[in-house]
Amino acid sequence: EFEKILFLKRVESTQDVSRDWIRKYDFSPVIVASEQTKGRGQRNSYWQSNKGGLWFSLSLKNFSTFKDTLLPLMCSYAVLKAIENLVLQPMIKWPNDVVLLHKKVAGILVEKFSFNGSIYYICGFGINVNNEINIADIRYPAINLKSIIKKEININILLFSILETFEKVLENFSDNFFDMILKDINNKLFLKNEFVKIEKQNEIVYNAILDSIGSQGELIYILNGEYHSLYSGRITF
Ligand code: BTN
Repeated sequence: EFEKILFLKRVESTQDVSRDWIRKYDFSPVIVASEQTKGRGQRNSYWQSNKGGLWFSLSLKNFSTFKDTLLPLMCSYAVLKAIENLVLQPMIKWPNDVVLLHKKVAGILVEKFSFNGSIYYICGFGINVNNEINIADIRYPAINLKSIIKKEININILLFSILETFEKVLENFSDNFFDMILKDINNKLFLKNEFVKIEKQNEIVYNAILDSIGSQGELIYILNGEYHSLYSGRITF
């Protein structure tokens, strides 16, 4: 499905390039850029995208088989597996970050839009690989893979490994298969069983205990002995 890949040198955001392709051709190859000048992250934040990182977007058409909450999770799962292949032990921070040594190493941004009667999802992957991270610019702890492995990492190998897993997840999507993935994710869930601070729409929940991720990709937490489900929000670092 993702056999066409377009490598670009410098773009504003691979998300926009992919969207422009869809508007023109009803299709977008995987868009990879060495550098982004207007990389964007969750909640309209700025995403540092210096040379040396892996910045790419892929698109899915009419992907309506299941809830939106699952898609970012499937993306971060593919990143998790690719990083595990480097003999590291990353974890997933719900809903869509991958962390290593308690620091953010990758983030996912899924954007949805409709065009010509179809619904498109553009999944953006940002992975700190060999790029310098300007800590002064970010509000949370971040890390790149190179500083842990202590050598340059081949970005294309990492890209192919992510695409391969992601494709497999999409193709084999069935309840059983997803149960397996979910189990894996729950075993590698960052802050599991710990007290966390959760941001809901306009509310902050303190002293929640992070329990697990449910079958719709939702976060399950315990507050005052009661279980709660959260479909959109985030855990603060
Ligand atoms: C986040 O954690 O806030 C999500 C970061 C997503 C960054 C990627 S890099 C490739 C794609 N293009 C963008 O402008 N953003 C995503």
